[in-house]
Amino acid sequence: MIPFGDPSASYQAHKSEIDQAINRVLDSGWYVLGTEVDAFEEEFASFHDKEFHAVGVANGTDAIALCLRGIGLGCGDEVITPSHTAVATVAGIEQAGCTPILADIDPITRCISPESIEKRVGTITRAIMPVHIYGQPAQMHKILEIAKANNLAVIEDCSQAHGAEIHGRKVGTFADIAAYSCYPTKNLGGTGDGGVILCRAKEFAEKIKSLRQYGWNEARESIIPGFNSRLDEVQAAILRVKLQHLADDNAKRRVIALRYNQAFKKLPITLPALADTELHAMHLYVIECDRRDELMEYLRSHKIGASLHYPLAVHQHTAFAQRIGGWDDLPVTDQFYKRNITLPMYPELSNNAVQRVIDAIRDFFQD
Ligand SMILES: Cc1ncc(COP(=O)(O)O)c(C=O)c1O
Repeated sequence: MIPFGDPSASYQAHKSEIDQAINRVLDSGWYVLGTEVDAFEEEFASFHDKEFHAVGVANGTDAIALCLRGIGLGCGDEVITPSHTAVATVAGIEQAGCTPILADIDPITRCISPESIEKRVGTITRAIMPVHIYGQPAQMHKILEIAKANNLAVIEDCSQAHGAEIHGRKVGTFADIAAYSCYPTKNLGGTGDGGVILCRAKEFAEKIKSLRQYGWNEARESIIPGFNSRLDEVQAAILRVKLQHLADDNAKRRVIALRYNQAFKKLPITLPALADTELHAMHLYVIECDRRDELMEYLRSHKIGASLHYPLAVHQHTAFAQRIGGWDDLPVTDQFYKRNITLPMYPELSNNAVQRVIDAIRDFFQD
């Protein structure tokens, strides 16, 4: 079976460097929040922009909650976000005590639609949380304009878009603050849970460093109510290795995406848009097709691990259905979830495997 993603291939590709990094931590005797986390934070921030600050945390969901708490949002504050995202985005908003409001997506980018955001802004709206879904940058310029006009904070969910760019500028540096997951399947993924926050203001970084460890100050007195959301040293050391390969690995993903797009351009499927002005991180390669269930069956019977991202939009899950504002006006999202299908995509995917995926899809459509 060709899987749709393969974290073990990423480990094998960088094995000797990762093994060395892990052994360095094991030998050091210091396992949580230490010099590896400090170095990762510094390297992650300068990878984006030297003016920014990074804070390592336990996972991407906590990163979202800590971003919101860090900029002073909480109970009763509404945050507009797309329903087409990982459940984690909305779980993180609720974890911070905020109220998520779901917006629709743009059919081309599949990211939050600026027009839909505008329809949802109300008197208790405090923030917009765009998600750069599948590695595709959201329309940040329009989103920032809406935010400015309505005095709203913007928090970028970059969990699927490490290293993506708009006009040469990395996502995560457009807004006030950004959250990243470093779960093993992500473009920058460890071998366990991990997350990181990127922000321009040193003041926010310092507050979040306190919040991630019980709200402690340097004397270990809790001065604000906090969490336990620490990043461990093994994950930080692995992420430092992976960060050095991120740009190359993303470029390999884009080469595969271009090959798929070229091969499928005459078929009755909607392809990911690859704009010249952007660098897509190509976390997931997702097409849309009317015969989605049939195609999925066909690919699986040909040992191709097609998948769904996601099987359900947030507003379609039992835990959220009819509870989160905006759920009854998401026509583009509802349509997308009948047609989406994820094809294999990871930097180590071999030429032969890519060709097998292409051949199978062409055979299905008898091209
Ligand atoms: C868009 C998005 N946001 C947030 C998260 C949360 O990350 P984690 O699983 O590390 O908590 C994920 C990962 O699944 C994600 O894809």
